Amino acid sequence: MLNLIKERKSVRTYLDKDLTAKDLKAVKQIIETYNNKQGFFKNRIELQFFEKPFLNDEKHTKIGTYGFITNPRCFIAGCVENSFYGMVDYGFIFENMILDLTEKKLSTVWLGGTFDRKTFDFMQKGNQIVPTITPVGYEDTHQSQKEQNVREHVHANQREPFETLFFNESLDQPLSESHALAPLFELVRFAPSADNKQPWRLLVKKDMVHFYLHRTPTYQEQLSFDVQAIDMGIALSHFVKGLKDQKIKFEVSNNFVNIDLPELEYAFSVKLEK
Ligand SMILES: Cc1cc2nc3c(=O)[nH]c(=O)nc-3n(C[C@H](O)[C@H](O)[C@H](O)COP(=O)(O)O)c2cc1C
Repeated sequence: MLNLIKERKSVRTYLDKDLTAKDLKAVKQIIETYNNKQGFFKNRIELQFFEKPFLNDEKHTKIGTYGFITNPRCFIAGCVENSFYGMVDYGFIFENMILDLTEKKLSTVWLGGTFDRKTFDFMQKGNQIVPTITPVGYEDTHQSQKEQNVREHVHANQREPFETLFFNESLDQPLSESHALAPLFELVRFAPSADNKQPWRLLVKKDMVHFYLHRTPTYQEQLSFDVQAIDMGIALSHFVKGLKDQKIKFEVSNNFVNIDLPELEYAFSVKLEK
């Protein structure tokens, strides 16, 4: 499972090829596993599969991606309550699903901005929103020019240095890369994030790991949901995969007494059991 975290990458250029019957079945099973699941903060995620969105008849929904995705075949969309912790839960569950798809050698890309959200109005009831979708398909290793431009623009292959993201006891003490939990933090560092902003900052205090959001100012003025809260949920997904791998018991909550830190927004904490 942990290798998958390193293998996953955004794919925007797909082979012009339908999913095989076996893969289609696997995708449907994976969606079933996560559909209507709640995250740690009790928000339920509803998933919908769009198997043939480009068939030209009334029954099928057309999904617009402004030319950013080449040869998309099918899509998965998710819907959740539009709140900070709704987005955290969404990030957690949608990323778990994406990692399961990666395990089946299926490619994906989180899309939060570059798709026509109006198509999904029918899914959104009350205060719900469809924050992201992903295509599912086979990677074409010859990336489209648009994909190369996007990856270069956001330095998609790069991540911030370890010592600028993870801290021990206080923000002026970077966590040592030889810390027992360092391999788990490395999994967080590999997480995808909107525009590759990597807004997660983690502070270890004894048996607690506090997750803070280093928000990019004015960043999401055009969006009607908190995309960086989704990034926090994705980080939690990777961290929890690592904890489970190491058989470390834990509890996630936003009720723990936390510490106000300048320029950082508290999100949640993970309490590790000895
Ligand atoms: C919540 C979220 C929203 C994203 N929205 C878009 C998007 O609208 N369009 C796009 O091309 N990529 C989008 N991405 C993909 C990121 O740009 C990508 O994850 C990041 O550059 C790191 O690259 P990697 O996924 O290949 O590791 C999004 C990623 C996340 C986590």
